[in-house]
Amino acid sequence: LVFGLLYFIRTVEGIHNTEENSAFHNFKLIRINPETENSVKYLRSLYEDPSPYELDFWQPPTHIGAIVDLTVAPSDAPQFVKDLESKNINYIVAVNDLSKAIENERGSDAFYNPVAGFAYDKYNSLDEIHSEMKRLKKEYPKMITLIDIGQSHENRTLLVMKITGKRNPLGSKISMWIDGGIHAREWISPATAMYIAHELILGYDNDATVAKLMDHIDFYILPVMNPDGYEYSREKNRMWRKNRSPAKCHRSTFSTVCCAGVDLNRNFDWFWASTGSSSDPCHDTYHGSSAFSEPESQAVRDFLEQHTPEAFISLHSYSQMWLIPYGHRKQSYPQDYHTGLRPLALRATKALYELYGTKYQVGTGADLMYEASGGSHDWAKGQLKVPYAYLIELRPKNTMMGHGFLLPEREIVPTGLETFESIKVVADELVAQF
Ligand code: ARG
Ligand code: ZN
Repeated sequence: LVFGLLYFIRTVEGIHNTEENSAFHNFKLIRINPETENSVKYLRSLYEDPSPYELDFWQPPTHIGAIVDLTVAPSDAPQFVKDLESKNINYIVAVNDLSKAIENERGSDAFYNPVAGFAYDKYNSLDEIHSEMKRLKKEYPKMITLIDIGQSHENRTLLVMKITGKRNPLGSKISMWIDGGIHAREWISPATAMYIAHELILGYDNDATVAKLMDHIDFYILPVMNPDGYEYSREKNRMWRKNRSPAKCHRSTFSTVCCAGVDLNRNFDWFWASTGSSSDPCHDTYHGSSAFSEPESQAVRDFLEQHTPEAFISLHSYSQMWLIPYGHRKQSYPQDYHTGLRPLALRATKALYELYGTKYQVGTGADLMYEASGGSHDWAKGQLKVPYAYLIELRPKNTMMGHGFLLPEREIVPTGLETFESIKVVADELVAQF
């Protein structure tokens, strides 16, 4: 019976998911600009309810005028597009064959770095990232400590790099936390976390401002918070978002479907399982069976409760937004939103802008996009009382440039450099204030 049940679960999961054949041949990336309330409503129903089409929302529908990005499977594309047309919803096919865009992200780019092993201008595997962290630790033993803060579902190490200056003028130090890769497919995020670490480490002996920051602040950087999902997005399904917690089943009127993975950025204890998250394990925003049900979010919680920082920054992509708590509800702000969090965010994004002219929007995720509960930055601010907690949605702005999650490797270094400019502004404020 047990084996029969397992077989059944595997089969249903196999039918439901396209994970095993996810090369994305002829999948379309579609860009929609909903111009009426009815269009928004229709798109929302496709996003929230079980949909007749195989769709993957890269940018969920929120309000009139807010761009919606989604991919559609080739078999569903003709009917889906007909549907849009019958409803007078304007769309653009931004990418006609997603598998080609996925290839272009790495392989055939002119700036592609073919060197095996870790490099700062390519998307690296988890092993490559961990070996680079170990190499840095060897080269700069006084500056770097590696801390194993826990294991993922599949027993990969959650490895934090503590970066600190050699001098310690005040005796006691303040700290800043930066995590990347909470969402698997947002590859620019771990790459940027590593770039920031690299800039700090190399800056210590070459840049007096960086040295000063490091003499006051301990930086804790977790480049890949969701290592199982990250590897899964590299090896099996480029568009995977969640972690890889074992499949859970969801009974609907017609069938039972089982799916793996929890959205770690819906799994933190901040209005958990309320707005903008799903109780359906097959949904991309599945919030898990309880707050902190996942080993990855537990490990981060446990570590941060012991080492509560003065600033918390979580790196995501995409849309070039610097998000401030709270994101679980519209027009919900911490008491120091207007006096502390927002002014600093504006200064940070201004410094970022000044390097290459990359524009960021500043505000809460709920106000700028959609409500979403259980987010780590909201939890950091609301529960942990971290003074400056932010979520950064890195490059690109949209799917017309950089194809959303598929940001070309040649943009890794510029993204790292401009983001580092903004990190320095936050760090500088910590030094001034604490
Ligand atoms: N894209 C991120 C996510 O889905 C950001 C969410 C930020 N919060 C919000 N309320 N929109 O987790
Ligand atoms: Zn994300």
